Amino acid sequence: MIRNFTFYSPTKIIFGKGSIAAIKREIPHDKKLMLLYGNSSLKKNGTYDKIKSALSDRTEIFEFSGIDPNPDYDYLLNCINEVKREKIDYLLAAGGGSVIDAAKFVAIASLYEDDPWEIIKTFGACANKAIPLASIVTLPASGSEVNRDAVISRKSKKAKLPFGNIAIYPQFTILDPELTFTLSKEQTANGILDTFVHVLEQYLTINVNAKLQDRFAESILLTLLEDGTIAYNEQDNYEARSNLMLCSTMAMNGFLRAGVPMDWATHMISHEITSLLDIPHARALALVIGPYLDYCKKQKHEKLLQYSRRVWNIYEVNEEKAIDMALDKTMIFFKSLGFKTKLSDYGITEKEIDKIVRQLISHQMIKLGENRNITPEVVASILTSSL
Ligand code: NZQ
Ligand code: ZN
Repeated sequence: MIRNFTFYSPTKIIFGKGSIAAIKREIPHDKKLMLLYGNSSLKKNGTYDKIKSALSDRTEIFEFSGIDPNPDYDYLLNCINEVKREKIDYLLAAGGGSVIDAAKFVAIASLYEDDPWEIIKTFGACANKAIPLASIVTLPASGSEVNRDAVISRKSKKAKLPFGNIAIYPQFTILDPELTFTLSKEQTANGILDTFVHVLEQYLTINVNAKLQDRFAESILLTLLEDGTIAYNEQDNYEARSNLMLCSTMAMNGFLRAGVPMDWATHMISHEITSLLDIPHARALALVIGPYLDYCKKQKHEKLLQYSRRVWNIYEVNEEKAIDMALDKTMIFFKSLGFKTKLSDYGITEKEIDKIVRQLISHQMIKLGENRNITPEVVASILTSSL
């Protein structure tokens, strides 16, 4: 049965063409504002100019840019120092998950008296306040725009670690599908796969008769199969990108996980692959999810069978066969979006697998999955099967 839960989703979602204009009314006028963004894409795709014109009545807007994918702790310390020095009290993140996560970390670390690395080490537990922040999504994927989570890397320590805190929910988020028209096929595909795996991490676990959460999960997966493929092939298809954007956001707004057991092993293993081998987040997920689900077929049998029936319309009577067919179709879908799905496709060998497993142990990721039975030894055998 569904476990007790609290569903809290305080972020205002402002959706649609031209919705950037709303930032003028949403950001309190008395706040000292800093805009955070990545490298060239914001200016190239015109979003930067739209932001500046929406905020043209402001005499001063601080900026912090150059936030790379997998936002780096040491780089963000520069931003935290500037926020403290200039007494910034509102952050606006414009970009994908990396920029939004960076803003979340800056928001909480700027008000934290001790060593900011403690925030990462305690997975966010040691802090309790943050500067208000908001986001403008230009790459639908992470769902960071509506949740209390973030992932920060520390390249100097080869670490990429999640943290969460109730204080870092964005006040509002702007979801304008037109801002995603300039995404490359590869980035569009990254968003589709990341969202698909976010759903699986919360859905393909143990059946607790959570009928609504299950059907909500299945509706997101079906929409990704339909409109993800369209958006991948038609860059400026507004309707397909609208549905894609809403899938990414709603997959991570907390309802899918409400009262159900969650997995997240694929994500934790993938974070190590990204930090060690510099393989982008979604590309790393594509290497792990296949062999991982294959390994977990027995313990996930009931939900995998439901997945095969309701998402892939497979009515093969033999249950094991139906599950194998669904897993095959899933990997065929990912490959149709240009993903490589074997570690050997990236020249990864046993040597790297050993490093990945040692990193997991050093990050205390030693009992993963909904049953906490995915140990480092199991991870090694799963990854080896994908060589
Ligand atoms: O740097 P710029 O020039 O802006 O280019 C970016 C970046 O290089 C580009 N881009 C973004 N919007 C664009 C665009 N290019 C053209 N047109 C646009 N409209 O895309 C590149 C990748 O951006 P990034 O933000 O890194 O991608 P994504 O949104 O996939 O975010 C990945 C990050 O999210 C974290 C991941 O760990 C990773 O660090 N995640 C955060 C989660 C959360 N907070 O809940 C959960 C997720 O599982 C994920 O782990
Ligand atoms: Zn993800």
